[in-house]
Amino acid sequence: MSNLILPPEWKISENAVTPENTFNNRREFLKMMGAAGLGIAGALYGSPAWAGTGWLDFKNLLGGKTPEKKGEYAQLDHLKRNPAFAGDRPMTEEDAALKYNNFYEFTSEKDRVWKRVEKFQAKPWQVEIGGLVENPAVYDIDDLVRAMPVEERIYRHRCVETWAMVVPWSGFPMKALVKKVKPADKAKYARFVSFMKPEIAPGQRDPSLPWPYTEGLSMEEAMNELTFLAVGVYGHALPPQHGAPLRVATPWKYGFKSAKSIVKIEFTETQPATFWNTLIPHEYKFVSNVDPDVPHPRWSQKKERMIGTGDVYPTQKYNGYGKWVAGLYE
Ligand code: MTE
Repeated sequence: MSNLILPPEWKISENAVTPENTFNNRREFLKMMGAAGLGIAGALYGSPAWAGTGWLDFKNLLGGKTPEKKGEYAQLDHLKRNPAFAGDRPMTEEDAALKYNNFYEFTSEKDRVWKRVEKFQAKPWQVEIGGLVENPAVYDIDDLVRAMPVEERIYRHRCVETWAMVVPWSGFPMKALVKKVKPADKAKYARFVSFMKPEIAPGQRDPSLPWPYTEGLSMEEAMNELTFLAVGVYGHALPPQHGAPLRVATPWKYGFKSAKSIVKIEFTETQPATFWNTLIPHEYKFVSNVDPDVPHPRWSQKKERMIGTGDVYPTQKYNGYGKWVAGLYE
């Protein structure tokens, strides 16, 4: 890992580390995160070159067992699948998707997130919609879902770390919500803010990281047909590890753009700061569309590996969703 270049803010003095505060300091978090934030798999398993060997064996890692809590998630009845979004690849097994996650609030160990979210409660939950809008509102999650046109869409998801999945999200197009709150003309961006509860989310106890997790989209991106606010997956309510009770799904962008467990959506005139861009700006840009021709500074983005099966596919520009979004960037 010596070839990794850490930005200065990731370096802290040895003196800051005492047995008492080990968990609560940046050095420990850094260790937890595999030394350089996103990209732990690459950092540990042989990137930057795509070698095809030495990668995590997702199949064995996941063990194929059903998470004990699965039955507890409320079923979403009368869901209509939108045929325009078919995923174009075999669907990822639910168990695989449930047990391999990025949710740094809890841990950087992707295969352990599902075990670390025990104390997370997705109800009661309120979502504030504010900033430059005509109709600011605080919604109870149930009221919001009732007011929105919920449907199911099979989307591909591509993490910047090169793992990928195909899952059926249930939710509603973000534009349905935007129309309801009526952003002002000068609103140019939407900013998403994730929950903040360090008492149940150990990763958040490091005050030097830019918690809460935030992300953002331009107004045109937010209004695009593809931009989806998910409240469920595989026909039931979102489990905590997937970002219950409300998360973003922008399938043409790298997965880190999809903030989980959102408590606030704010419309702003200026481009909002985001979690990863604040931490490591030269690796994680605001726009971050999937693009096989633009390598991550530490690894190639040419290929991707499906969780669950380990199948490898060439990565497509905009993750294959150019038909919907290419026009935004011409
Ligand atoms: N949102 C929050 N709040 N915290 C996170 O750590 N990780 C992001 C994104 N949203 C993250 C987040 C990253 S890097 C990815 S790839 C996806 O969530 C993973 O979503 P999944 O675990 O549901 O597959």
